[in-house]
Amino acid sequence: MRGPNYAELLVFLFLCSATTICFAFNLSDSEVIMRCIEEERQALFKFKQGLQGNFSIPSSWGMDVEDVANGKELNAATKQYLNLSDNYFFGTIPPQLGNLSNLISLDISWNVMIIEDYNLDWLFRLSSLRNLDMSSVNLSKVVNWPDKVNMLPSLLQDLRLSNCQLSLPVPPTLINANCSSPLSFLDLSFNQFNSSIFPWLFKYYNRLLHLDLHRTEIEGLIPKALGNMVPLVHLDLSSNKLEGPIPNLSKLSLLRELHLSNNQLNGSLDNVLGKLSKLQVLDLSFNSLKGETHLSNLSSLNQLDLSYNYDLSLKFSPDWIPPFHLDYIGLGSCKLGPTFPQWIQTQKNFSALDISSARISDTIPNWFWDLSFNIKHLNISANQITGNIPFEWFLTRFQALNAIDLSYNRFSCPLPQLNSNSWVLNLSNNLFRGTVTFICESEGFLEYLDLSNNLLFGELPKCWPKMANLELLNLANNNLSGKIPESFGKICWKYSFLRSLHFQNNSFIGELPVSLMNYSSLSVIDFGENNLSGRIPTWIGTSLLQLMILRLPSNEFVGSIPLQLCQLTFLQILDISHNSISGTIPRCINNFTGMTQRQNLETRTFDYRTITSVGSMHFYWQYIEKARVNTKGLPLEYKKILYSVKVIDLSSNRVEGEIPREVTSLLGLIGLNLSRNLLTGVIPQNIGDLESLEFLDLSSNHLSYVIPQSLATLNFLSYLNLSNNNLSGRVPTGTQLQSFTASSYAGNLDLCELPLNRCREDNMAQGPQIGSTHKDGNIEEHENSHEHLWFYTSIAIGFIVGFWGVCGSLILKVTWRRAYFQFLDRMGDRLFVTIVVNMAKLLRNFKSTQCYQENV
Ligand SMILES: *[C@@H]1O[C@H](CO)[C@@H](O)[C@H](O)[C@H]1NC(C)=O
Ligand SMILES: *[C@@H]1O[C@H](CO)[C@@H](O)[C@H](O)[C@H]1NC(C)=O
Ligand SMILES: *[C@@H]1O[C@H](CO)[C@@H](O)[C@H](O)[C@H]1NC(C)=O
Ligand SMILES: *[C@@H]1O[C@H](CO)[C@@H](O)[C@H](O)[C@H]1NC(C)=O
Ligand SMILES: *[C@@H]1O[C@H](CO)[C@@H](O)[C@H](O)[C@H]1NC(C)=O
Ligand SMILES: *[C@@H]1O[C@H](CO)[C@@H](O)[C@H](O)[C@H]1NC(C)=O
Ligand SMILES: *[C@@H]1O[C@H](CO)[C@@H](O)[C@H](O)[C@H]1NC(C)=O
Ligand SMILES: *[C@@H]1O[C@H](CO)[C@@H](O)[C@H](O)[C@H]1NC(C)=O
Ligand SMILES: *[C@@H]1O[C@H](CO)[C@@H](O)[C@H](O)[C@H]1NC(C)=O
Ligand SMILES: *[C@@H]1O[C@H](CO)[C@@H](O)[C@H](O)[C@H]1NC(C)=O
Ligand SMILES: *[C@@H]1O[C@H](CO)[C@@H](O)[C@H](O)[C@H]1NC(C)=O
Ligand SMILES: *[C@@H]1O[C@H](CO)[C@@H](O)[C@H](O)[C@H]1NC(C)=O
Repeated sequence: MRGPNYAELLVFLFLCSATTICFAFNLSDSEVIMRCIEEERQALFKFKQGLQGNFSIPSSWGMDVEDVANGKELNAATKQYLNLSDNYFFGTIPPQLGNLSNLISLDISWNVMIIEDYNLDWLFRLSSLRNLDMSSVNLSKVVNWPDKVNMLPSLLQDLRLSNCQLSLPVPPTLINANCSSPLSFLDLSFNQFNSSIFPWLFKYYNRLLHLDLHRTEIEGLIPKALGNMVPLVHLDLSSNKLEGPIPNLSKLSLLRELHLSNNQLNGSLDNVLGKLSKLQVLDLSFNSLKGETHLSNLSSLNQLDLSYNYDLSLKFSPDWIPPFHLDYIGLGSCKLGPTFPQWIQTQKNFSALDISSARISDTIPNWFWDLSFNIKHLNISANQITGNIPFEWFLTRFQALNAIDLSYNRFSCPLPQLNSNSWVLNLSNNLFRGTVTFICESEGFLEYLDLSNNLLFGELPKCWPKMANLELLNLANNNLSGKIPESFGKICWKYSFLRSLHFQNNSFIGELPVSLMNYSSLSVIDFGENNLSGRIPTWIGTSLLQLMILRLPSNEFVGSIPLQLCQLTFLQILDISHNSISGTIPRCINNFTGMTQRQNLETRTFDYRTITSVGSMHFYWQYIEKARVNTKGLPLEYKKILYSVKVIDLSSNRVEGEIPREVTSLLGLIGLNLSRNLLTGVIPQNIGDLESLEFLDLSSNHLSYVIPQSLATLNFLSYLNLSNNNLSGRVPTGTQLQSFTASSYAGNLDLCELPLNRCREDNMAQGPQIGSTHKDGNIEEHENSHEHLWFYTSIAIGFIVGFWGVCGSLILKVTWRRAYFQFLDRMGDRLFVTIVVNMAKLLRNFKSTQCYQENV
């Protein structure tokens, strides 16, 4: 197969052979050059023949094909170094590569290559090799690779086999092997081992300086013998399944970086870190470490991450002066409180601080606002911190922050106008006062802006075109008022990034601005609980095709449900309850394929996530999407399982006509609320097809005739309300239906209420009885207590199933939580993704600023 850059590849390879390899000899003799060229050219040519795909010259070579072809730049291409990393090569690595016997460094990582015959013999001929990087080359079929590594060229120092699909041989014959190479750098991350790897590794105990076993599925205890690998400078065992205590590592006195995060390590840190006075990076986050921790001998420490060890407490005497100066302080979810940790005052130059959920309930000391000028990331969320934020701080430090999270505290102060370069700004769930006009002073980098649950008031500013990078905007639960300005949807781009928009529970008035249709990327709109009026715009259906959640309840919308809404095929939650909507329910609702499918669209995620980094440490920022749904007669806020919540709520409107049969094809629905409308006709015969249904409220309509027998097949139904209709006949028999209280069926003139045993044989013979009279007061009382029992039981069951069944398991189930953080960690691992994203961001910012200036 001929790749598109075939000719370039040929020229390049020819010149490579002449320059790269022969320069090693610094030859002046043309004959020798020719021979050399011929041999090496053949080798590279054969190498090339095994490869297909696109080819670009690694930037590190610093040369241009044209220049090389013209005989220039030859001097730039000195090297016994062959770096073909990340070039989208795919194909087989031919053994002829072994003829490049002068190679010192070979990097073929991050291509899509396999080894011919799964044979690494060609490697052994590269007798000068010192550095070898084959990361991401699929080596799964190489027989007994640990032996092969032992036999590698005797000069090899640096070996990187990350993500090579390596596993341990069965049985692991690792101990007998000899190892002669001066191997000092070994990266085996992202492979699949177990603790049997250690005996082999310990063969290198006296030479390894850098050992990376990140995400290699190693389980069990950390072996004590690790403490004998005295030369170690960098040790990474993070994201494995290691458990138990951390052994005494005091021997490793040269250690500079220790990464053990995201394991299941427990026990205390006493007698572990004793004299690691050279340690610069300590990352023990996401474990279950306990007890009190002293950091007094870590005088070189620069990056500290102990976050998410819920039982680890860091309590120092108030006058303790730490011997270190930290750049990264990660102590989220550790026990630091209840008083504000004084020692942070001694850290004058950090760039990241995370003391979120640290159980601090204190007034924030004044010195805190005088801290590091260098700070880029600040997270002090989810404590009980009170106090003011000084105006000067907002104007000086604040503007240098990339990401700031002060949410879930008790800060009470007016928000001044401020110039913020942040892209994450979360001030939600505090007592901040003032207007939101301050955002107009920002540079427009903001991606994540959450100001919900504060005391903000006033109208929205008009600077929205500047905010072209917004992905999440949450202004919910404030006291904002006025119309939503037309400028709100005026964006500078062909497309927008805004995915989630929360304006609920404010006092906005007027119609939704047409410009909103430009936010075609929106998947969540929540304008509920305002005073918005006018018709539900048709453009919601024609322009916002990504919508998954549309909440407009408790407003003053009029008119009918636009047919165009049926084009929202991803829609999962449609809530337009408590308005003045009239007309009929469109038959085309079976077009909501998001609701017709029982399985969850897990591939589509609501949540906003981003990572900010300091050195090798990462800050994770995320917004978990949430929506309020009236389930079982009570409002419930759904968060993590939101993607599986599929609900239609049209209650408390003036919707008339019949319930369309098509509703029964929405097989994924868990909730259907059509109560308090003017619906007539019958309950659709196939209502039992809605197998996932958990709550059904059709009360207070004019529905007539019998309850369909199929209703009895709804096994998950835990709330049913058919009261105040004109239903007749008997309640179908089915375990579930009998468990509902009489109130579920009350107010139906002709309904035979089986749950209360009122459906006597004679009544059935005579036809339905009108009203529900009782012979005897005692029965009434007994029934009442029965009713109450059922009422409370069903509430309790509903709560347990609805809340603990899902939210609870996420809170409690360590494995799920772990899986979640592993996901985050995986994101962290691919730092280059961040880099790419940041590049894109930069570009976007640049363009958006330009665009804004053009538009002003
Ligand atoms: C190559 O040899 C020339 C003289 O023959 C010398 O000036 C030059 O420094 C040498 N280059 C290298 C890289 O050894
Ligand atoms: C490379 O090595 C192989 C095997 O040792 C040999 O057969 C071949 O002739 C050598 N030269 C080239 C240019 O492939
Ligand atoms: C090669 O490049 C072309 C165009 O640049 C692209 O369409 C194609 O997908 C690339 N192939 C591979 C294997 O990357
Ligand atoms: C090869 O080049 C890539 C980027 O072009 C670089 O990241 C990598 O470190 C280089 N490999 C070696 C061994 O220098
Ligand atoms: C690696 O190669 C093996 C054998 O060829 C294959 O079964 C496996 O799917 C490959 N793994 C990946 C991730 O490509
Ligand atoms: C590690 O994996 C190898 C190969 O799968 C297996 O033979 C060995 O028993 C495993 N060791 C442990 C401790 O699980
Ligand atoms: C290991 O090395 C010793 C001496 O260097 C040698 O006698 C022995 O045969 C080697 N063992 C293996 C398995 O290669
Ligand atoms: C630590 O973990 C080990 C292994 O998981 C367990 O056996 C031990 O009980 C744990 N110790 C504590 C104090 O939790
Ligand atoms: C930890 O190991 C060092 C070196 O072997 C030893 O000096 C020290 O006493 C040990 N500490 C504990 C608490 O076992
Ligand atoms: C710090 O080092 C001193 C002497 O080197 C030692 O006595 C002390 O126990 C160490 N502190 C901790 C907390 O390990
Ligand atoms: C503060 O830290 C930054 C790097 O994060 C460094 O460039 C700067 O020199 C430090 N300033 C002081 C006063 O130590
Ligand atoms: C149903 O959805 C498709 C897009 O998936 C759309 O083209 C069609 O117009 C919709 N039907 C109705 C009746 O709106």
